[in-house]
Order: sequence, then C-alpha cells, then structure tokens
Amino acid sequence: MRMLKRLAVLAALALISAGAAAQTVKIGLINTYSGPMASNGDQIQKAVDLYMKLNESRLPNGVKIEIIKRDDTGINPETAKRLAQELIVREKVNLITGVVWTPNAAAIAPLTKEAKVPFIIMNAGTAMLTTLSPYIARTSFTLWQSSYPMGEWAAKKFKTAYIAVADYGPGHDAQEAFTKSFKAGGGTIVGSVRMPPPTSDFAPYLQRVKDAKPDALFVFVPAGKSATALMKGFGDLGLGQAGIKLIGPGDITTDEELPNMGDVPVGVVTMFHYSAAGERPANKTFVAEYKKTYGDKAWPNFISVGAWDAMAAIYDVVIAQKGKLDPDKTMALLKGWKNPNSPRGPISIDPATRDIVQNEYVREVRKVGDHLANVELETIKSVKDPWKEINDKK
Ligand code: PHB
Repeated sequence: MRMLKRLAVLAALALISAGAAAQTVKIGLINTYSGPMASNGDQIQKAVDLYMKLNESRLPNGVKIEIIKRDDTGINPETAKRLAQELIVREKVNLITGVVWTPNAAAIAPLTKEAKVPFIIMNAGTAMLTTLSPYIARTSFTLWQSSYPMGEWAAKKFKTAYIAVADYGPGHDAQEAFTKSFKAGGGTIVGSVRMPPPTSDFAPYLQRVKDAKPDALFVFVPAGKSATALMKGFGDLGLGQAGIKLIGPGDITTDEELPNMGDVPVGVVTMFHYSAAGERPANKTFVAEYKKTYGDKAWPNFISVGAWDAMAAIYDVVIAQKGKLDPDKTMALLKGWKNPNSPRGPISIDPATRDIVQNEYVREVRKVGDHLANVELETIKSVKDPWKEINDKK
C-alpha cells in the first residue's frame, strides 16, 4: 500500500513537471499555397518542413513549435492583412513569418508594430519594408543588394542597357539600383519599361527592346513562372541572336525553373546571393537533404534558403528564451544574429537596420552534366542593403 501511494505521488509529480515544462511557441506562416504563383510558396513550405524535420532535437525538453499556415493566394495585401490580424488576435501567435510578396508584407507591417509581434520576412525584397516596423527582421535579400552591384559589373562590359521590370516595389528598386550604378560606371540607359505583375506575355515589351538594340537587357520579374515566360519570349523573338545580352538579379534564372527554360538561359549572367550550384559544403548538404526528402528532380532556390535561414533564426531565439518568447527580447536576439554557415555563405542581421548582410555572387548559366546551373564566378563579400547605406535609412 505504501509502495502504491509513493508511486501515485511520483506519477503526479511527473505530470506536474511535464506540464510546467511544456511550452508551445505559435508561429503564423503566411504563404502563397494556391494561385498561379504557388510554386514560390512551395519553396518556402519545403524548406520549413525540412528544417523542422532535421532540427527537432535542438529544441529544449518540453518546448514545441507549432506552425499555423495561412494562404494569401498571391499578391493580395487585403487578404494578407486579414490573415495576420486573425493570427495575432485569435491564434495569439508569438511570431509571424513567411510572405513571398512585397505588397503583402507592407500590409502586415503596421499590425506587427501595433501588437508587438516579431515578423521575420522569408522572401519579400523591397528595401524599405524593414523600415515600416521595428518588429521586422529579414532573412531574404533586397533587390538593391543584387541590382546595384549588377550595374557596377555591367558598366565594365557594356556601353548601353535597356531596363524592363515588373511594375511594383521590387521592380522599381531593381530599376533604380541598376540605373544608379550603371550610369555612375559610365553606361547609358537607352530605354526602360515597367510591366504589370504577374505577366506571361512579354512579346510586346521585348519587341521594343529588340528595336532599341541595346548591348544588354536588364530584367527583373518575380521568380517562378513569370521568369520562365520571359525566357521563352526572349528566345522566340531572337533577342540573343540579335546580340542582346540578358542580365539581371537571380530571380530570372531560379534553380528550380531552369529545367523548364530550354537552352535560352545559357550564358545569362545574374547577380544573386544563392545558387543551388554553390560549392560550399553547407550548400552541398542542404541540396542533398532537399533531394533526399523531395526527390531527385527537386531543386531548392533562394526562396527556400530564405525560409531555411528564417527557421534557423527562429529556432535560435526560441532556444535562447526556452520557449517563452518576449517580443522585445526576440528582436534584441535577432539584431546581430549570425550564421557563418548558411547554404548561401556567411550571413548576419545588421543590428542597425534588421536587414540581412550577405555575399553576392556573379553567376552564369552553364550546362553542368545533364542540367543547367547558375555557376558562381565571382564573390562580392558581406553586402549590406545599398539603399539603406546610400540614403542613411534605418
Ligand atoms: C517581392 O514581391 O518582394 C518579390 C517576389 C518575388 C521575387 C522577388 C521579390 O522573386
């Protein structure tokens, strides 16, 4: 009888301590799961799932991460705002993440400030986004980060360039950044056009470019199916044969779309922070794990890596606070967060701007074995967002 009593007491104690230690961190993941641009959302989801599968053992005993998924269906700021509101008010999430699109991130930003909910942007790349709320940190990129050094590089190779960009935040940034550095390097912009996103028929724009006969055409369109449609138009209208070199940020030659682009992208040079073909050991492991889980034909792109590194940052702030997240402590931990060993190379969050600092790579699309790859040729180290540097923005 005494034995039984002791056992009952022990069992009760075990239950109490398990209850005390059980701590669930609720993360709202706003992502594009449906609609014509859902392939970008798939890149995010695959990276989130893979990170959680491979890193479960990092979490302290009793700490759990619950991901609450919401579908913004594409560039849809009203929907994104409503979803963020629900996640904050009804689900009481500790943190919001995801978000492929700039207009959606901009719509969510004021809520994160009001409610003091940290928001880690996994993709959206317009430079000003991080200035909209002190509770935003970004693990992706800015278009200035790629397009400004692209203009410097291009000015050494070409006298004239034409610019074609998607007509919204990231496209405007790409245009402004490239124009500034290309002109400063002595280049001349002979024409520019803004195209509504998402576009799938690029022929009318590309015909104008062909008639203008620039040395180079600098393009930004959002990654995914738009980029593949652009490549088709470039090939069909014979711009390459006319001697026009296609250049841009890496959004136009993303790793997972290269197999759908035929041979048109061979020789296209882009500036970007991630290529699945990167030779870094951390990247080799990442790509191998991705293929092991999702099949040999699956390729992670920069959107996957933005999400992967966001998850690494989230795990680090959860572990540091043993699962009890305080918004201000979380932001303090994110400022200056570092990973010397991301698949894209060393990265950190700039404590002054909460934006990512990373290498940019000059890459050329080449045939490697049986597939096309963005082969890294040159590295520009530790690039901060030039828009914030030039304009002294925090
Ligand atoms: C964005 O909306 O910020 C965005 C989307 C797709 C990209 C780049 C930027 O490839």
